[in-house]
Amino acid sequence: MLVAVKKKYETPRLEQLATQQGMQKHRVHEIKSEDSDFDEMGDVNELLAEFGSPLYIVSEKSVRTLYRSFRDAFTAPGIDTIIGYSYKTNYLPAVCAIFQQEGAFAEVVSGMEYDLARSLNVPGHQIIFNGPYKQTHELIRAVTEGALINIDSYDELDALAKIAKQMKMTARIGLRINFQHGEQSWTKFGFNYDNGDAVEALKRVKKAGTCLSLEALHNHSGTYQVNPDIYARTAQVLTGVAKKVIELGMPPVRIADFGGGYPSSNRLKPAFESVELGGGAGRHLQPFADAIIGGLTKAGKAFGERPTLMLEPGRAVIDSAMKMACTVVSRKSIPGRGDAVIVDAGVNLLPTAYWYDHGVEASAFDDEAAVMGAQPVSVFGPLCMQIDVLRERAMLPPMSLGSSLVVSNVGAYCLTQSMQFIQPRPAVVLLGKNGPEVIRRRETREDIFALDSVPKHLKNKAPKA
Ligand SMILES: Cc1ncc(COP(=O)(O)O)c(C=O)c1O
Repeated sequence: MLVAVKKKYETPRLEQLATQQGMQKHRVHEIKSEDSDFDEMGDVNELLAEFGSPLYIVSEKSVRTLYRSFRDAFTAPGIDTIIGYSYKTNYLPAVCAIFQQEGAFAEVVSGMEYDLARSLNVPGHQIIFNGPYKQTHELIRAVTEGALINIDSYDELDALAKIAKQMKMTARIGLRINFQHGEQSWTKFGFNYDNGDAVEALKRVKKAGTCLSLEALHNHSGTYQVNPDIYARTAQVLTGVAKKVIELGMPPVRIADFGGGYPSSNRLKPAFESVELGGGAGRHLQPFADAIIGGLTKAGKAFGERPTLMLEPGRAVIDSAMKMACTVVSRKSIPGRGDAVIVDAGVNLLPTAYWYDHGVEASAFDDEAAVMGAQPVSVFGPLCMQIDVLRERAMLPPMSLGSSLVVSNVGAYCLTQSMQFIQPRPAVVLLGKNGPEVIRRRETREDIFALDSVPKHLKNKAPKA
């Protein structure tokens, strides 16, 4: 006998939807993300079948295109431009090697990253060594190999001067400068400009004598900056310090290092759009380049006859060059939340899902009819955690079990901040000139527990069957 199951009354949800025309555009955007220029990707289902699901996918062509457009935007007459790729953003060795082939220096913030750069044959003089913690043996190596060391504190300045003196060598240094600009200024790193610490640091460098050669003034004002004005202020601050260098009778500093922070084409969740900074992600690099190059032009001869502009982009040159393909493993309709799918990739692989509304493409639904059938669907990961949400209410066509989804703009900080939580991490393939190639293999249970040991007295015997 069939029993009729009464569905409980559910309060209707009010949801703001655009008009039909706008809606269509929005749907197309969701389904065919604006960054989906991975024309070499082919059929994502074939990639998943060959390399397993989920799968990180890097497009070599996109890495090169992003790098070149970044470099071109910041190239100007009368200025030499050096781009130091920020390793921590994504230090897949294959990715770092592409940037190196494109002519990028390596911007590293630890001995481990330094070592990686050297293992990839980046010469020491093309390494920019940043960060608040550099160990003595790392500093010795950096001095020996001629890396540019951006000093973070008085303690580090004193330590490096001592090391270089003992080695009877000259360390190539920069001073990291910070300043107050708005409420969320990154004043934790380097020497403060506003309170006079930056000038005091200059005096100490001068006093240290020939063991330190001041080549750069550095500032990294924050990450995912949405307003180029902060870089105009950086230019003013660095110029102010550079003029002080000359006043102190030191040789002019040649390099103005503006750090990173330039936005990618990812979209911040509305909650993180800064009202103070005017909202809306500044997705185009030109205003940032104008602020920086314009600022350097105003610097006159503060950085010598021909200044070197150093930049340390991370997310702007790698975010949209990587995607994550995954598979729908289950579907639900959740009271108060609407339709949802569970996929086999979680926030442990895409930690940036906390801040961004990543584009989610339904790869198998290319035709307009499917686009028009799209509805808001939440995309949850496979972790046994309530916070495992890849994307709230993406516009997606109806999906079956086993359908694949592609999450875009996952190149920055996803892999380096990913963790083996509950599930091993997936493989990474590079879409390069030889077709898809594995550049990191899928992890196994053995990889995850390779470092562990169980003390003898805790080794339990298997129970008898
Ligand atoms: C010193 C330094 N340079 C460059 C970067 C790269 O930043 P982004 O990825 O925002 O461009 C960072 C990241 O925080 C950094 O700390």
